Amino acid sequence: MQEAKIMRRVFLSIVALVAVFAVSAQRAHTVIVPRPMEVTAVKGAYTLGAKSVIAVADDSLVRPAELFASYVARDLGAVLDVEQQKKGAITLSLDSALGKEEYTLDITSKGVTVVGGTPQAVFYGLQSLRQMVAAGEVTKKGVKLEGVAIKDKPLVGHRGAMLDVGRHFFTVAEVKRFIDIAAMHKMNIFHWHLTEDQGWRIEIKKYPNLTKIGSMRKQTVVGRNSISKTFDGTPHGGYYTQKEIREIVAYAAERYIEVVPEIDMPGHMVAALASYPELGCRNEKFEVRTRWGISKDVLCVGKESTFDFIEGVLEEVVSLFPSKYIHIGGDECPRVRWKECPHCQQRIQQEGLKDENELQSYFMHRVEKFLAKHNRRIVGWDEIIYGGINKSATIMLWNDKNRSKVVSLGNDVILTPKYFCYMDYYQTKRPFCNKEGLLFRDNRILTLRKAYSLNPYEGLQPSEYGRIKGVQANLWTEYVADFNRLQIKLLPRLAATAEAGWTIGKKDFDDFAHRMEHLRRFYDKEGLLYATYFFDGVDEVE
Ligand code: ACM
Ligand code: ZN
Repeated sequence: MQEAKIMRRVFLSIVALVAVFAVSAQRAHTVIVPRPMEVTAVKGAYTLGAKSVIAVADDSLVRPAELFASYVARDLGAVLDVEQQKKGAITLSLDSALGKEEYTLDITSKGVTVVGGTPQAVFYGLQSLRQMVAAGEVTKKGVKLEGVAIKDKPLVGHRGAMLDVGRHFFTVAEVKRFIDIAAMHKMNIFHWHLTEDQGWRIEIKKYPNLTKIGSMRKQTVVGRNSISKTFDGTPHGGYYTQKEIREIVAYAAERYIEVVPEIDMPGHMVAALASYPELGCRNEKFEVRTRWGISKDVLCVGKESTFDFIEGVLEEVVSLFPSKYIHIGGDECPRVRWKECPHCQQRIQQEGLKDENELQSYFMHRVEKFLAKHNRRIVGWDEIIYGGINKSATIMLWNDKNRSKVVSLGNDVILTPKYFCYMDYYQTKRPFCNKEGLLFRDNRILTLRKAYSLNPYEGLQPSEYGRIKGVQANLWTEYVADFNRLQIKLLPRLAATAEAGWTIGKKDFDDFAHRMEHLRRFYDKEGLLYATYFFDGVDEVE
């Protein structure tokens, strides 16, 4: 009896020891952000030199290998050769036993091996390696990489970054750079917010006025939107030609990023109303808006011609974007014009709708049906739930207060709750002593720690976890007029959202903070700008 007890104790001690060892093995030091699922230290090291060869086992890996070679050329002083051969200093291969975005990365004294379920997964392994190379010790022979065995895959399938190019236009080169930044954080969706009250940015050949008139506002409000009576007197505009859009979609695809375009409707449409006034309820003239905020003027949902217009626009949109999803907005659509409009009221009566909420749903359903004919699914902001939605619609949650209600519907959900994911918010508790500039929203603070605290499954039953398809960081640009400011808003908080969407298992802010010091140096090497409040220790200070 006594013996059995002792044996049991010894056994338990061994179990505990093994567990401690396993945990410490998994939590081995890494510089990688987002943190990989498992990192185990391995004896030995490998020095990657300028003459190293990247061996690829498959044609599909040539481009990821070339991209990697271009990324590390700066650290190695040379662009590595990519060869179709069995073994190299870095060997890349595919293994169908691994998932779509799952990879392993091994560094031993013999070299570096990256194996992925798909070329996309290998690309993620190379993004991890890229960060390790940037952080590695530089010797005469090259960059020394410590031995490690990494197993990695993401938590959620949609890891997005949204850019609003409606409020301020960003050039093709800047959009590509934004995509590069998303890719280095292992994000796989670029949500491109292309139309706004303040500017229409996508060329639609059937409706040339959208860009001729709608892409330009005559000036922009200066200072606080709610009180300012001052304007800058400077026209602001720009749009992407269809050729440029194809170029950006291809650029993103090479980096395994799908571009999800958003045509925001039936609200946020003043630039379209300025271009084609008959799309509104009241046949009056409009100007592309010069202030921020929500317009009462929206698309008239009573007139059939509005649907002809939207279908004409979307036909060209689907021809440009191969994405499975098309974002059709649905947010912030006031009902006042519809209440007064004979066409809209007639539509409500004819269709037996209860009210204007159901009128918006009627509109969304029709657009969804149209897109379904083109084999596309819709995403909409969480206001699309008012008045009823189909199960096939994906809801993009931005109003934090709607989280449990939205999840309870059972639809697919993408989380971008504004108090965690809106990158236009202040990122320090002392915004007015710093250089945060103006903010369009409520004066909330979204520190790095707060962004990091996003738990996609918070408050959910395990049976509901599957409804959360993704997380996303959104950058609204009312007060982000240039690419320098864009970077300072986006970074380093994008890294926190990336880790919320990627990292499996318990999160640890202190560990993240340590890795952020490495990521900061990586940003420096990449020539990226970022906010330093967190690094300076003043983000959480009142
Ligand atoms: C939104 O922020 N209006 C989606
Ligand atoms: Zn109307």
